[in-house]
Amino acid sequence: MKKRQIGKTGIYVNTVGLGCMGFSHAYGMAEDKDTAVHMIRKAYALGYDFFDTAECYTGENADGTISYNEELVGTALKDIRDKVIIATKFGVQHKGDHLELDSSPQTIRKSLEGSLEKLQTSYIDLYYQHRIDPKVEPEVVAGVMKELIAEGKIKAWGISEVNEDYLRRAHAVCPVSAIQNRYSMMARWHENLFSVCEELGITYVAFSPMANGLLTGQFTPESKFEKGDFRNSMPQYQAEGYKKAQALLALLKDMANQKNCTMAQLSMAWMICKKDFIIPIPGSRKENRLTENFNSGNIELTAQEIKRIDDSLDTMDFAVFGGH
Ligand SMILES: NC(=O)c1ccc[n+]([C@@H]2O[C@H](COP(=O)([O-])OP(=O)(O)OC[C@H]3O[C@@H](n4cnc5c(N)ncnc54)[C@H](OP(=O)(O)O)[C@@H]3O)[C@@H](O)[C@H]2O)c1
Repeated sequence: MKKRQIGKTGIYVNTVGLGCMGFSHAYGMAEDKDTAVHMIRKAYALGYDFFDTAECYTGENADGTISYNEELVGTALKDIRDKVIIATKFGVQHKGDHLELDSSPQTIRKSLEGSLEKLQTSYIDLYYQHRIDPKVEPEVVAGVMKELIAEGKIKAWGISEVNEDYLRRAHAVCPVSAIQNRYSMMARWHENLFSVCEELGITYVAFSPMANGLLTGQFTPESKFEKGDFRNSMPQYQAEGYKKAQALLALLKDMANQKNCTMAQLSMAWMICKKDFIIPIPGSRKENRLTENFNSGNIELTAQEIKRIDDSLDTMDFAVFGGH
């Protein structure tokens, strides 16, 4: 598989990374620790070399204890640390049903120390501000990132769910290597940032690239999810949202058949072949799906095939989580 550079860092990773969030967070009860560590390690064996986690990705274990996603990632990768690229995030805490944002310099430094400890490493390859904190100017956050890079604690930094103005202001103080925003066939509202990424040499890491799984074609409104699984309330999994997605799911099925691949693979090949600075980070707890998702990086779509999909998407309207 061809590698892609993260920003202008000289760090190259495979075209598909692994989103590790689901082992602890958002998809029901956390995965048992040994199983999760085994699967993350398995992912490395399958070819994944870019692993995504966050300080706030926590969940509940079956015995009532807390599952810290960074701990799972750190345990799985500690003895191959120099062979993998680890991204984590600061600035968000989940408080009940809302997010608490804090990107003050002292909190960033405290978070970093916690992440280094949980990940069992002395440096983070890519450190993201998880969400913009309206109380802190981008120049202040970028200033802290500049210091952390100089101290050797992080190699590069990025921003998640960023807009153009914030990105440009932050980048002017300390070059941003990657943004991590939602992007899938059902969530294209950040495409205006493509030209900014191209201009500034920034990688676009696409989170929830299969619209939280819906684009795989494996789910219907009748699909049952565990308590605590965010899909229970996501609009694309409700009858109305699912109905709106039917035309897209039919198109994906048809084209996947023609390309001899799965719908999940096609949904990611579409963005990979569209721009050479996009890296999707799908998540799965299942080994066969880890393989399937990784191999989407080997599927070639022509410019005409991508245009056919985009032209169809332009005529469609979706109800999707995070939607604008
Ligand atoms: N920066 C942010 O604010 C932010 C927000 C959300 C996510 N993320 C990152 O993005 C990563 C991925 O996002 P995501 O988990 O929200 O969405 P996603 O990757 O679009 O979808 C994951 C869901 O799809 C299912 N799935 C995965 N591959 C499949 C396949 N081949 N066939 C059928 N079902 C499949 C998974 O279930 P199984 O586990 O059962 O396979 C899981 O429920 C996360 O792990 C996290 O690292 C970042």
